[in-house]
Formats: sequence, C-alpha cells, structure tokens
Amino acid sequence: MSLAAYDLTGRTALVTGAAGGIGRATAVLLAQAGAAVHCADLDEKGLNRTTGLIREAGGEAWAHPLDVTDRPALAAAVASAVRTGGSLHIAAAIAGVMHRSTVLETQDADLDRVLDINFKGVLHTCQEAARSMIGTGTRGSIVTMASGAVDTGSAELLCYGAAKAAVVQLTKTLAAEIGRHGIRVNAVAPGWVRTPMTERDDAAGQRRVEATLSRMSPLERVGEAQEIAHAVLHLASDASSFTTGQILRPNGGVAMPW
Ligand SMILES: NC(=O)c1ccc[n+]([C@@H]2O[C@H](COP(=O)([O-])OP(=O)(O)OC[C@H]3O[C@@H](n4cnc5c(N)ncnc54)[C@H](O)[C@@H]3O)[C@@H](O)[C@H]2O)c1
Repeated sequence: MSLAAYDLTGRTALVTGAAGGIGRATAVLLAQAGAAVHCADLDEKGLNRTTGLIREAGGEAWAHPLDVTDRPALAAAVASAVRTGGSLHIAAAIAGVMHRSTVLETQDADLDRVLDINFKGVLHTCQEAARSMIGTGTRGSIVTMASGAVDTGSAELLCYGAAKAAVVQLTKTLAAEIGRHGIRVNAVAPGWVRTPMTERDDAAGQRRVEATLSRMSPLERVGEAQEIAHAVLHLASDASSFTTGQILRPNGGVAMPW
C-alpha cells in the first residue's frame, strides 16, 4: 500500500459544477493531487475564480462555461479534455440545483427543471465521459453527486430527492454495464454541507436546517465542501481501485443505512 494511489499526475479530469461549493473544492483538490482539470459550470465568473485558484497553485485548468443540459456543450468539453490530455481519466458530475415544494404544490415545470439538471445533466455527463473512456481504452473513474435525501423522505424535497435517487440508480446501472472496460462508477451522497446552495436554502424562510441536522449528527456539526471533495478524490483515484457501484456517504453519521 502506498499514498501514491492518490497521485493523479498525468490524469485529466472533468468537473461539472466547478464554479463554487463542492465542485470548486473538488476541482482544486484534484488539481492538488496532480490532475489537469477541465472545469464546467453555468457561472463563468465563478469558473474563472476556480481555474485561477488552480493555476496560482501551479496546476493546469481550463474553464468551460456551459449548461449541463446542453449535451453538445458537454461533448465539446470532453473532447477538449481528450485533446489536452490524450484521454479523459476522471469525470465528476457535481452540478446541481436545490428546489423546495411540497408534493401537493409541485408543478410539472419544477419537476422537469430539476430532473433536467440534476438527473439528465448527470446522465449526459456520464454518457459522454464513458463513451470517451471506452473509445480511448482508458480505465477511468466516474463520480456522481447524489445526496443524503435519497436515504429518507424529506418534506419539500420530492423533485430534488427523486432526481438524486435516479442518480443513484444511474450510478449502479452504469457501473454494472461498463466495469468490464475497467471503468468504475460511484456516487457520493453528502449530508448537509455548508455551500452557497445550502446558505441560500437555509436563509429562505429561516429554516434553520443546519442547526437541526447538527443536532442529528453524532459529530454534532454539518460538513464542509472540502470534506466532500476528499470523498470524490478517494473514488476518483486508484485508492478505490476495487470499488464500483457504491454510494459513499460523508454525512456526519446522520444516516447509517445498511
Ligand atoms: N451542499 C449540500 O449540503 C449538498 C448535500 C448533498 C448533495 N449536494 C449536491 O452537491 C452538488 C454541489 O452542490 P453545492 O452545495 O456545492 O451547491 P452550489 O450551488 O454551491 O454549486 C452548484 C454548482 O452547480 C452549478 N450549476 C447549477 N445548474 C447548472 C447547470 N444547469 N449547468 C451547469 N452548472 C450548473 C452552479 O452554477 C453551481 O456552481 C449538487 O449536485 C448538490 O445537489 C449538496
């Protein structure tokens, strides 16, 4: 055993949602581990900040301003990663949005939007990455971002939870289908993590979710984006070479499913 298993030198990664929160922390950490990182997000300003952080630290980064619902744009980002690095080794599908509405108030348009971004955006990222890895014969790693919402019923999180449950199903199905190419597919299902997404959510209506979830955690706190990035690094690297089709739950012990 050696820490070299975490070394990503010579690898090329694509990270969606890289303009902030967990995606930025992941892009920066993968770059620190040695990967050249292609960063994708809707938010161009945030993306440039992320690529700036990576380059200032001596790493290699590219910014791809795109919407993950735009499949040709995702395909172009993957093609760009292959051009710069020879092949795509790592894809982390992290972009996502939060939406709250009760089941009775949920509009079809809300459900469509959340499924488009949080499920189809991840599906398209996985499809483009997997096709590229198979085409170049790369024994890569794909990491998706689920949520603790898949382990329980949470009021007002039907659209979000349904999309994340679909991400779990996608992760396991794709892992079963492409393992024979040496490609691994795993999900991270974080508990409550302090990011721009949860700050917006907690501020709305004084929900104080953070305080409630801190009380539910044996660690008596919520998470930080860097702690989720470390989970992604583990799954992206050779340190998890015998792990596929799994859901890793950095959640402070809030949920302990079988
Ligand atoms: N923060 C948490 O507590 C938590 C818990 C579980 C899961 N997650 C998941 O982690 C991921 C990252 O969340 P975060 O908390 O860092 O949120 P965030 O809002 O800070 O980051 C999400 C990023 O996704 C980008 N994005 C949104 N829609 C997009 C689109 N259509 N195309 C491209 N980019 C788009 C945003 O611009 C943003 O930069 C999400 O998938 C979220 O569901 C977060």
